[in-house]
Amino acid sequence: MTFQVTVQPSGRQFTCEEGEAVLTAAIRAGVGLPYGCKNGACGSCRGKLLEGSVTHGVHQVRALSAADEEKGFSLFCCAHPHSDIVIEAREVLGVGEFPIKKLPTRVAKLDR
Ligand code: FES
Repeated sequence: MTFQVTVQPSGRQFTCEEGEAVLTAAIRAGVGLPYGCKNGACGSCRGKLLEGSVTHGVHQVRALSAADEEKGFSLFCCAHPHSDIVIEAREVLGVGEFPIKKLPTRVAKLDR
């Protein structure tokens, strides 16, 4: 079973498999949601759940408290949809939208 995820305010959409985290599905679809740890610790992926329902997997309370969850906040790295959902999140540029740059570097030390 798949669920439709709509990101506001951009209106971009992607599908999320049952049991899949919203962030994982977004990355697979090339939708650039922000994230850091991908395991519920940092809060970088935090946004709002505007419509629908999700269940959060294991996460740190400092990243998302029960009170925040009641206010509609969600951690998309560990949020698993149970219905089509509409979320509010800032978007970063998608993979492939960053120009590839070649920069000169020097290896100062290498330990094997
Ligand atoms: S990416 Fe760190 S809490 Fe979601």
